[in-house]
Amino acid sequence: MLETAQSERHTAPMLSTAVARKTVSVLFCDLAGSTALGEQLDPEPLRELMGRWYEEMQAALERHGGTVEKFVGDAVMAVFGLPQAHEDDALRAVRAALEMQSAIGRLNASLAGRDVPELRIRIGINTGEVVTGEGVATLATGDAVNTAKRLEEAAGGGDILIGTVTERLVRHATRLEAVNPVEAKGKRAPVEAWRVLGAVAGADSFARRWDTPLVGRTAELAVLRHGLTASADGRECRLVTVLGVAGVGKTRLVSELVAEAGEYATVAVGRCLAYGDGITFWPLTELIERLGGEQAVAEAVGDAPDAALVVERLRVLGGHGTAPPEELFWAVRRFFELLARERPLLVVLEDVHWAEPMLLDLVEHVSRWSREAPILLLCVARPELLEERPQWEGVHVRLEPLSSGEATQLLDALDAGGILSPELRGRVAEVAQGNPLYAEQFVAMLADEACAAAELITLPPTIQALLTARLDRLDPGEREVLQRAAVVGKEFWPGAVAALNGGDEALGTTLLGLVRRELVEPAGSSVPGQDGFRFRHALIRDAAYAGIPKRTRADLHERFVGWLELHDTAEELHGYHLEQAYRYRDELGALDDHARSLGERAGELLTVAGRKALARDDARAAVNLLERGVALLPRTSGTRGHALLELAIALMRSGSFAAAEGALEEALGLARSHGDRQLELRTLVERAFFRIFTNAQTPADEIKRIAEEAIPALEAFGDHAGVAKAWHLLSEPPVEACRWGERAAALEHALEHARRAGDTREAARAAASLMQAIQLGPTPVDDAIDRAQLFLRESEDDRLLTASILSSLAVLLAMRGEFGEARARWARAQAFWEELGMPHQQAVRAIDASAIELLAGDADAAERELRAGYDLLVKIGDVHFRPMLAAYLAAVLVEKGNLGDADALASYAESHSWEDDIVTEVMWRVARAQIQARAGAAAEAERLAREAVDLAAPTDFLDLQATAQLGLARVLRESGSPEAASAGVRAQAVYHRKGNIAGAGRAAILA
Ligand SMILES: Nc1ncnc2c1ncn2[C@@H]1O[C@H](COP(=O)(O)OP(=O)(O)OP(=O)(O)O)[C@@H](O)[C@H]1O
Ligand SMILES: [Mg+2]
Repeated sequence: MLETAQSERHTAPMLSTAVARKTVSVLFCDLAGSTALGEQLDPEPLRELMGRWYEEMQAALERHGGTVEKFVGDAVMAVFGLPQAHEDDALRAVRAALEMQSAIGRLNASLAGRDVPELRIRIGINTGEVVTGEGVATLATGDAVNTAKRLEEAAGGGDILIGTVTERLVRHATRLEAVNPVEAKGKRAPVEAWRVLGAVAGADSFARRWDTPLVGRTAELAVLRHGLTASADGRECRLVTVLGVAGVGKTRLVSELVAEAGEYATVAVGRCLAYGDGITFWPLTELIERLGGEQAVAEAVGDAPDAALVVERLRVLGGHGTAPPEELFWAVRRFFELLARERPLLVVLEDVHWAEPMLLDLVEHVSRWSREAPILLLCVARPELLEERPQWEGVHVRLEPLSSGEATQLLDALDAGGILSPELRGRVAEVAQGNPLYAEQFVAMLADEACAAAELITLPPTIQALLTARLDRLDPGEREVLQRAAVVGKEFWPGAVAALNGGDEALGTTLLGLVRRELVEPAGSSVPGQDGFRFRHALIRDAAYAGIPKRTRADLHERFVGWLELHDTAEELHGYHLEQAYRYRDELGALDDHARSLGERAGELLTVAGRKALARDDARAAVNLLERGVALLPRTSGTRGHALLELAIALMRSGSFAAAEGALEEALGLARSHGDRQLELRTLVERAFFRIFTNAQTPADEIKRIAEEAIPALEAFGDHAGVAKAWHLLSEPPVEACRWGERAAALEHALEHARRAGDTREAARAAASLMQAIQLGPTPVDDAIDRAQLFLRESEDDRLLTASILSSLAVLLAMRGEFGEARARWARAQAFWEELGMPHQQAVRAIDASAIELLAGDADAAERELRAGYDLLVKIGDVHFRPMLAAYLAAVLVEKGNLGDADALASYAESHSWEDDIVTEVMWRVARAQIQARAGAAAEAERLAREAVDLAAPTDFLDLQATAQLGLARVLRESGSPEAASAGVRAQAVYHRKGNIAGAGRAAILA
């Protein structure tokens, strides 16, 4: 044999002595019944036997890259993944275990006839996170080790048991059988276990799917196709290499070419192996085997003059005889040339990044020296090939990640059953970042768990193994830089990394190296004056971070805050890093006063950031920040109560009512126990809002009492923001009673105080409500329009407020008869709501649009607007405003004579409206009265119409009053009553009070 590559290429330069966290596969093996053996055998043969056993076990373990950690008596422990992780460590462990079992078989066979009991071993394998490195007696420490031991103890003689994570990693490449969970002492839950029955020969390190349709890659495929046709046309040998990171789709791309090339070319495929004995020429042996072995060789060489020599030399590849390398190179080249005599030849060499240097030499030799033969040598490799061979010849085709559109397409195909929610799919697309293998692994994992929430999505162990293996190939200096950068974040700055490293002169060079290895790349910077970098893939950052011991993480995060303080960055960032510094110390049980003060500072910073998020109406971010802040603030902290109150507000705005209520009660409790009156009053005000919002029955006087007590007291504290809220609260009870004047008066105060407090969001909310109160209440149209114009000028950069004002202004303009202007403004408001994604506003304010159309005399358009609004409410599942819209729509339909639909809607409104909802109560009666009138039930009609008028009378909702009067006028006219006209006159008078000229004009018809 030429050369035995009992080898592991690309091993990390040395075992780093520093402490590290790592995911490894741990194997325990135990010789069953060894005590009995000791009794039966004389110590000398026993010693000899144990020596042989030991050798066999060690050889099997090391052949697969395991590190034998301990040989104590008759037990072995080995770790796969130290010092260098491999993407297939778990599978290596299982393969080693199978080999150990067959080695025992051989050992028993050789002992046959001697009076020795049969030897049996039991093996347990488990994969998980351990801590490794200096200062500890063992190579790896962690629960994963104990679990592997428990599995081994539970295994029967001759068995191999594996744990959950190992199962995940090897299930596609092995035959397994689930066994009863293993009760293990000292463990809370039984350990799930599988028995290994055998391995699947030639299986890949990951399960891959070839069933989904190919996505994208048209241009790359064209390049490959061209390579093949050009070599055929020119009868020359070409070398093309497809390069790309693991999982990006190299093999998939090449398989497309292979599938179509079969028609017109001879295709020969061989694959390089990551490890093993004599792997150097394995790809060629495999390639020949797949072509048909020696017979295929014989056929190919035919009667060529050098045929016999070629055949002989090629047999050396398979381990028969020896020959100098140059002879072998020649033979392979001749073989390819002869194969390509009749049809073009496509040679695919897979996973060339694992190729031995000699095989690489051979490929280059063939590509340079073959003559007059149409051969395409197509190599497939991860980019690390170029680290070994920077000058690698031929054409390079680089595969980049899929575009986001292609990735979505792939996800659709992967999750054809629609198991994942759209949100989860979005998350997968985000984390997979265009890598098809990652996408597949995430989908498989989530389909397995079927319950994962989008935030809780964890890294599949397969991808973790892949990334760790990649990072383990870095030298210690590079790894350290990468880890420090990972502490900084997905985006990082060399200045910050240097600060964490205590200054590093070689940093620039190291970073360039990392850029070359496609781990990081330069990027825009959010810190002025600092160059920015980012991780090529967020998962690379996560994998690098996962390798840092928690104690080091804590120190680095804390140190990084020092750097942040010198630069102008947001509280959120400071808070986050202090939080991490505290959290890891907490997890390590190392909370001292210093750590606690870090936690408290983190809590305060996060609270400040949360408050800012709330102020810009980003409720989701506010909830996240404030929840974290509150969790870090000690009960004694004065900030905690206020943070809780703000958290409650944020929770309410994001619709988490139960949690909001809890936060309010806690804030109230704290305020009272600390005697913090200001906080108590503010919390009471918020709680009242909360109750109104959630329709908890709170009497109007109770609300009034709270607000009236809070206003002067908070004013005395100079708390304008609080006073503004209290006035806003006071404006709530008049809403249901439709006393718009009263509401407007309270809101004027709310607006003024919100402005004095500089609380622009609260001011905007007050302004929008105020404008609507002015629109609906007794303020005359001209004054109301002036106010609306003023608000518009003041609210330029607030689209939500602008939309609300525009909607009110539109109705007011219609009242003055300026319908074109009115419609244009409402359309603008609607466009804003659409843009901002506020369907609710849009739906409810359809009432404004219909009011404009009714004033303009276009009942069809009014119907259209209301229907659109109603349908939108149905679509978003609103039940609160639906009865009101139904009642308005019923009233319009009656006018148009569509009595059937009107009746159904009126009934819906009647049965779903609540008593205090005066608007709905009036409107369904208006509609129903006319339905009765048309049906000839004059008395019933009149009764309902008068009820509507009476209900509207105590309000100052002028439009509602007029509508009720008009309804009565119509009913009375239908029955020929002489009183009809006076109801019409009353309606006209109400319109005039408002200055609603258009309304008065329409009422005139009935007067
Ligand atoms: N363009 C694509 N369209 C659909 N599926 C794809 C595409 N590219 C890759 N895949 C799928 O993604 C998985 C990984 O692809 P593939 O095995 O080709 O990656 P690779 O680059 O060869 O990785 P490795 O370096 O580990 O060999 C496969 O299951 C494959 O079917
Ligand atoms: Mg591949």
